[in-house]
Amino acid sequence: MISQKTIQDIFDTAKVEDIVGDYVDLRKRGVNLLGLCPFHNEKTPSFTVSPAKNIYKCFGCGQGGGPIQFLMEHDSMTYPEALRNLAVRYGIEIEEDESNEKNAEERQLIDSLYIINNYALDFYKKTLFETAEGKSVGLSYFKERGFNQATIEKFGLGITFNSPDALTKSAVSNSYNIELLKKLGLTSKHGRDFFRNRVMFPIHHVNGKVIGFAGRILKPDKKAPKYLNSPETEIYHKSNVLYASHLAKGPMRKKDECILVEGYTDVISLHQAGIENVVASSGTSLTVGQIKLIRRYTQNIKILYDGDAAGIKAALRGLDLVLQQDLNVKVVLLPEGHDPDSYLKEVGSTAFETFIDRQAKDFILFKTDLLLKETENDPIKRTGLVKDIVSSIALIPDPIKRSVYIQQCSQLLEMSEQILISALNKDVSEVLQKKRKDKEREERRASADFPTDAPPEGDTTDPRPEVPSRAADNYQEMHIVKLLMNDGDKYYNEEDKVTVAEFILGNIEDIIDEFDNPVYQQIVKEYHASLINDKQLALSYFVNHKNKEIAKLAVNLSSSQFEMSENWKKLWDIELQTQPIPDENYVTDGMHALLHFKFRKIMKMLNRNKLLLKDIPSGDKDQLMNIINKHQQLTDLRNEIAAKLKLVIIR
Ligand code: UTP
Ligand code: MN
Repeated sequence: MISQKTIQDIFDTAKVEDIVGDYVDLRKRGVNLLGLCPFHNEKTPSFTVSPAKNIYKCFGCGQGGGPIQFLMEHDSMTYPEALRNLAVRYGIEIEEDESNEKNAEERQLIDSLYIINNYALDFYKKTLFETAEGKSVGLSYFKERGFNQATIEKFGLGITFNSPDALTKSAVSNSYNIELLKKLGLTSKHGRDFFRNRVMFPIHHVNGKVIGFAGRILKPDKKAPKYLNSPETEIYHKSNVLYASHLAKGPMRKKDECILVEGYTDVISLHQAGIENVVASSGTSLTVGQIKLIRRYTQNIKILYDGDAAGIKAALRGLDLVLQQDLNVKVVLLPEGHDPDSYLKEVGSTAFETFIDRQAKDFILFKTDLLLKETENDPIKRTGLVKDIVSSIALIPDPIKRSVYIQQCSQLLEMSEQILISALNKDVSEVLQKKRKDKEREERRASADFPTDAPPEGDTTDPRPEVPSRAADNYQEMHIVKLLMNDGDKYYNEEDKVTVAEFILGNIEDIIDEFDNPVYQQIVKEYHASLINDKQLALSYFVNHKNKEIAKLAVNLSSSQFEMSENWKKLWDIELQTQPIPDENYVTDGMHALLHFKFRKIMKMLNRNKLLLKDIPSGDKDQLMNIINKHQQLTDLRNEIAAKLKLVIIR
């Protein structure tokens, strides 16, 4: 184990800008450095590095931390791996804590397990490429399946034939420890090879190391299972592994989407067809560990299911877990009788991609639709259905997302939103209570035994309480005003010479009358009028404003350079992705607030518009059309903003 002193040395020496600078082109921006975020796809830089605080933070995707976290996140290192990497880089000598013999032993064991797995990997590959049987039987098997040479190599595929102990013998004669071979499940307890007559798929950790194997039977055999899998070991924790994650992580990040399939061969076929953001859960239902792995790369997941009854059932199971982790889930049902591999072969990659894009349905709406068909006119079943769907929606952490779903479902179910909302609120409070308890338990556990040699568990999403929306509105209005007054005359986009004020006011022109707070409303309108005359307003204009209230506000809002109290975060359902370095990210933060603000206002306008419907004298077609048109416009606008905020894409 690395000694505490060495760890401290590393903390003191490692510079976040050095480490990040290896991967990101950083430009100076004030006291900070700014670049394009390596964790998500963006065109305008929102990835900030603060050398003074030795931290990085992306205001687009929320990733943030110090040099060690960066290596852990970006290069999928474990905590000790990151420490060792930094020590080497800065020439810090690693002092091991001798007091902890057990840990050194454990590490040695783990290293040995990796070495033996690599030996087996090599053995299976050689059997495929260098033996007569491999070349004739093995390579023709792959050829028949349509896997080309590059694909076989990329996935490290191999083969093993009917010899009782070819691998075991070979490994032992190279002085590998048979006990470790047994531990890895490569050798049975009687000293024979565990995998025989099988096509071998190595399973990799996201960092690329081989942690286990799956062996697919060569010829169908009723008496033997189709796949055999390595057991759980010190290096293979099945619930945290996704097949091909080491190859898919880059593409997932780039496409900002993860495609999840069931089978190893599905993954391989899709990769070969150029669709590389694909992983498999290996025949089991998704675990929290696997979801967290995906979340490191993207929040959007598209799950491909086989088009049969089992596939549809699977689509409904296990997904609540995904909702809870705040991923946007879409599902695609393949045509009857197909899995991704077979369907891709039938229609080709272009048609395949078009198909999955077209067929992808938002999970909640998919579920609603499906259950609706099942329950038809049975009122009792229908009550169950409503409960079922509402309980899924309640798991979604983001209140705005929840409200969009409620609206959608109320249309699908032909039920009033109000009924759904009250059902939802009950469920939400239960979910929050449970989360709070889980968190407390976790904290107690964490403080009891702090894991020294493992990456800290992240991602315990803060439960965000429901809030009175007026208070949140007021805060968001304040946020926008603050941004306008402090930075309105600065360039938001230097290339196009667009100022922050032009950007903001251009964005909220259509709802400028919707500010609830009269002082804020006046400020916004004044700025707007001034912009029409091509005049930017500086902070000094507001500080010296004749309206005392405005002047006072200007002073208050500028002196507290974005010192948001912790309580804001706790009390209001506002996306504050910015806590660690709030002073440096006013623009991104503001833009986010802007979109949320606009979203709320538009929802309000939609509701108001709906109420108008009631009062129309029957026969007044013109007015009816008017309201319907307005409804359409507002709905479009709402969807546009929801998409920008990456909420739900509504189908
Ligand atoms: P499939 O039976 O669909 O296999 O199981 P496949 O991957 O499509 O294989 P081919 O195309 O018939 O060759 C889907 C997944 O379920 C797991 C494996 O991860 C497999 O890829 N599975 C299946 C097992 O773990 N054990 C089994 O016995 C069967
Ligand atoms: Mn298949």
